Amino acid sequence: MKVLSVVGARPQFVKLAPVSHALTAAGHEHVIVHTGQHYDALMSDVFFADLQIPDPDIHLGVGSGSHGMQTGSMLSSLDGVLDEHRPDWVLVYGDTNSTIAGALAAVKMHIPVAHLEAGLRSFNRRMPEEHNRVMTDHAADLLLAPTQVAMQHLANEGLAHRSVLVGDVMTDVLLRVADAVRAEPLNIDIDGDYVVATIHRAENTDDVDRLGRIIDALKSLPVSALLLTHPRLAAKAAEAGISLEGGSLHATAPFAYPQMVAAVMHSRGVVTDSGGLQKEAYLLGVPCTTLRTETEWVETIDSGWNILDPDLTRVATVAVRDAPADGPRNAYGDGHAADAVVRTLEEHLHD
Ligand code: UD1
Repeated sequence: MKVLSVVGARPQFVKLAPVSHALTAAGHEHVIVHTGQHYDALMSDVFFADLQIPDPDIHLGVGSGSHGMQTGSMLSSLDGVLDEHRPDWVLVYGDTNSTIAGALAAVKMHIPVAHLEAGLRSFNRRMPEEHNRVMTDHAADLLLAPTQVAMQHLANEGLAHRSVLVGDVMTDVLLRVADAVRAEPLNIDIDGDYVVATIHRAENTDDVDRLGRIIDALKSLPVSALLLTHPRLAAKAAEAGISLEGGSLHATAPFAYPQMVAAVMHSRGVVTDSGGLQKEAYLLGVPCTTLRTETEWVETIDSGWNILDPDLTRVATVAVRDAPADGPRNAYGDGHAADAVVRTLEEHLHD
């Protein structure tokens, strides 16, 4: 079986790692196409190195741009790549512009497409990620869902016959890396208690007033806030004249994956608008506060492991709350989702 993965943004490299290992272990041919959506070394190269992912076979080098320009540029380059490789499956991951571009290019060329992390929904039609998810799910031939809730969303949209529950591949990586870094000394520039903070979603970074209020809230936290600064946040804050230092706030460059897992593991809490980080906090048993109106990972809300604070009225008090008495449930699988992905691709080959 020949599988061609299309990836381009940081969370996709994390998801690619276990899938790439499982495909290789099963003796399949795997072609990796990097769109170039994320191009800074700390947003891309370090993930390939740390997670032992083979170098991409093809790099499209699209870079940044408006949604239309970025996605269109990927689409026009992908035609030739897919034509040359003619894989049995094109595999797309998550909800970025690289996901929709990969799915659309393959569908137009009648190449079977599988969508990993299918069925997640925020039901917020303003989010670029929601457009990408919904359109990719409806375009794809095989929907690889991480959770029962995702399966239900797909069924509600009439897509049950194409959906398979495989579990969450991010859990595979997290459990493996958490075991590897648990005994290592923590390498961060902060003494005492801290929370890990990340902000990058357009709805938080692109509204100057809201961004200012989020940064002020982080500066006023009762413990240090270690802000791992996504390039979008750095650019928008600089444009708006908002300083990312002061009070409790300490900004730093984005962390590599193992360093991020270690930092969360030893933290008092996480404050974020990232999807993956909400789940990673939950799996590591760290309380999370999410600065959004909704979450796709609804299981993290159970028992108060994750609290949504869209209006920024609670973050000062809940960011360093104690962990709930009952431990996080095993809602995201046992760490073997990538094997299920490979099995499912094999079973549905030439359907
Ligand atoms: C993208 C995804 C989002 C995902 C996030 C993870 C879409 C629509 N959004 O958002 O779902 O959660 O990745 O990080 O696909 N930039 C750099 N260097 C880089 C990459 C980006 O400087 O390596 C800057 C550019 O100025 C760019 C901005 O960051 O304009 C935003 O990058 P972009 O890829 O458009 O979206 P993200 O915000 O990263």
